[in-house]
Amino acid sequence: MSTRWTPVHPRMNVMLHGGDYNPDQWLDYPGILDEDDKLMKLARANTMSVNIFGWSALEPEEGVYRFEWLDEVMDRAAARGGHIILATPSGARPAWMSERYPEVLRVGANRVRNLHGLRHNHCYTSPVYREQTQRINRMLAERYCSHPALILWHISNEYGGDCHCELCQEAFRNWLKERYGHSLDKLNHAWWTGFWSHRFNSWSQIESPAPHGESQVHGLNLDWRRFVSDQTIDFYLSEIAPLRELTPDIPVTTNFMGNYPDMRPFTGLNYERFARHVDIVSWDAYPPWHNNWQSTAELARDVAFVNDLYRSLKGGRPFLIMECTPSLVNWHAVNKAKRPGMHKLSSLQSIAHGADSILYFQWRKGRGASEKFHGAVVDHDSRPDTRVFREVAEVGRLLERLAPVTGASVDAKVAILYDWENDWALADAQGFGQDSRRYVRTCQEHYRAFWERHIPVDVITPDQPLDRYALVIAPMLYMVREGFGQRVEDYVRQGGRFVATYATGMVDESDLAYLGGRPGQLREVLGIRAEEIDTLYPEETREVVDADGASYCAYDYCELVHLEGAQALAWYAADLYQGHPAVTEHGYGKGRAYYVAGRHESRYHDAFYGKLIEELGLQPGYPAEAPAGVSIQTRSDGEQTYVFIMNFTESEQIVQLPEGAALTDLETDATLSGSLRLPPYGAVAARV
Ligand code: GLA
Ligand code: ZN
Repeated sequence: MSTRWTPVHPRMNVMLHGGDYNPDQWLDYPGILDEDDKLMKLARANTMSVNIFGWSALEPEEGVYRFEWLDEVMDRAAARGGHIILATPSGARPAWMSERYPEVLRVGANRVRNLHGLRHNHCYTSPVYREQTQRINRMLAERYCSHPALILWHISNEYGGDCHCELCQEAFRNWLKERYGHSLDKLNHAWWTGFWSHRFNSWSQIESPAPHGESQVHGLNLDWRRFVSDQTIDFYLSEIAPLRELTPDIPVTTNFMGNYPDMRPFTGLNYERFARHVDIVSWDAYPPWHNNWQSTAELARDVAFVNDLYRSLKGGRPFLIMECTPSLVNWHAVNKAKRPGMHKLSSLQSIAHGADSILYFQWRKGRGASEKFHGAVVDHDSRPDTRVFREVAEVGRLLERLAPVTGASVDAKVAILYDWENDWALADAQGFGQDSRRYVRTCQEHYRAFWERHIPVDVITPDQPLDRYALVIAPMLYMVREGFGQRVEDYVRQGGRFVATYATGMVDESDLAYLGGRPGQLREVLGIRAEEIDTLYPEETREVVDADGASYCAYDYCELVHLEGAQALAWYAADLYQGHPAVTEHGYGKGRAYYVAGRHESRYHDAFYGKLIEELGLQPGYPAEAPAGVSIQTRSDGEQTYVFIMNFTESEQIVQLPEGAALTDLETDATLSGSLRLPPYGAVAARV
């Protein structure tokens, strides 16, 4: 919503610029802090995230502490007038701890306990690990509670993964007892354990999914993932307990991981639930810019979607980019450097969608181990005249000018639903096409028509309020949880527009198929009955024709549906669904509900959503005329609107500003009007 959000810490009323800083790796290099001080000033880096993996430097032996290096880093930051995001070090731990207390080591799904190594590999149930992290966190909070540089806690690092040790098995059983009211009958029913004679008659028989054990009881898989999320959040809550007690005024975050289809598998944690417990959302953004499978504009659209998701997690509150690379990473299949201008462009894109920071992994490149060639602001030669450093410094200067934008948010009338539990269930379902489910990609395909028209979108979960939106789109909502159908009915009855697609409302929250017709709870509001889903081979398409006779392609999925009150807007022209509706519309109360029965090409979405946009009078954030590949986004605090115009193409583009309108370039104070010339990857931040 267009309101000014109060900063979670009073000093977060500027754009944070800086990032992960590991002086703990450089303790034997005395000159390095002085050098960093100088370089930070040159790069206009005002914020450093420290101690993320600092445990073995803080506590080299059990009970032996070395806080002096951290004192110095914090004091130097204060002397520079800079900010510190202080991490709790639980993302990795010293070897002595794993040696002395093996229960802190994670156990894999194959029930083999890991050796000490890597990171993000602790048991989140282990009382010993909880006690150890609470102890070190308490010491950090006691020592730095009133340190002038401290603005934010960074809890652990990219929580993720699961542990299958005996402690976790016991915790899982207790979690299940709670969920099923101590009734094994209820659990047996929810998991449909009559299948392959899997009925349980004692809680002790229940084990987490395993490659050499159970993997085909989908209710179990789903509950395990829910448990893993809840248990990770529980671990996080135990981490922050001493911080809340000793530093109630210092906000808390933990860095979430982004998601782009084709890159990382989804992280496995339900961030919607996690976000309820952080003061500000932060995420780590590593899009594969300049890749060879999609255009820059297509990737930009995907990244825009992910930014909108993180902004929407806390009702529109601006978020932080906790990590991004100033140049390249070390873990993509091909680690390509950002081309000139791309760093500024991608930074402005995050800000345009609601970020109040650009923080890097990492400030200074380490000398050894696996990340020594990962991009950093400062390379091994410590020079401020590298291409990367200069582009970072340019972004630093720009961010200083963008301070007024902090706290401003995005006013969206359109919401796309994205649901973590649905993603888990859909990915686990046996059926459909193995490779063609692509839930995130599907959501992004529906997002496209709005992004291309510069119409702001929130990406929300089914648990968030719907009534503030004129249009709610729920692509592939395979799992519809109890109560959601009712909420959609209320929303549409009161005038909302709701769009659902094929493969919707197939199972309930236990992953049990709905009886009595699909799409289950949404059947009445949609006014249809879905009968069969057909899956196509990658090279196949089916023709879809709309009321005007225009022809489109469906691919991957075609569903055979019957009208039950709805009317058809388009029909299949071939195959077993010939003559059946391919898209339907149902007037319900004061609103309308739509069903898109197949995976239609984007040209169809463009026409379909184009019409809805017109009917609903949905407007772009700022009414300039821009060629394809240029994105215009706005942030507003209710009084002042900020416009971001971004050229995600490899050639010059011209944007036509509205007649008589003038913008003020925030970077240069220049007045912009008429036609605006954007070089390749050019981007402008302006005030209306
Ligand atoms: C993650 C981690 C960082 C670093 C980067 C590298 O996001 O949080 O510690 O490993 O990846 O891209
Ligand atoms: Zn465990």
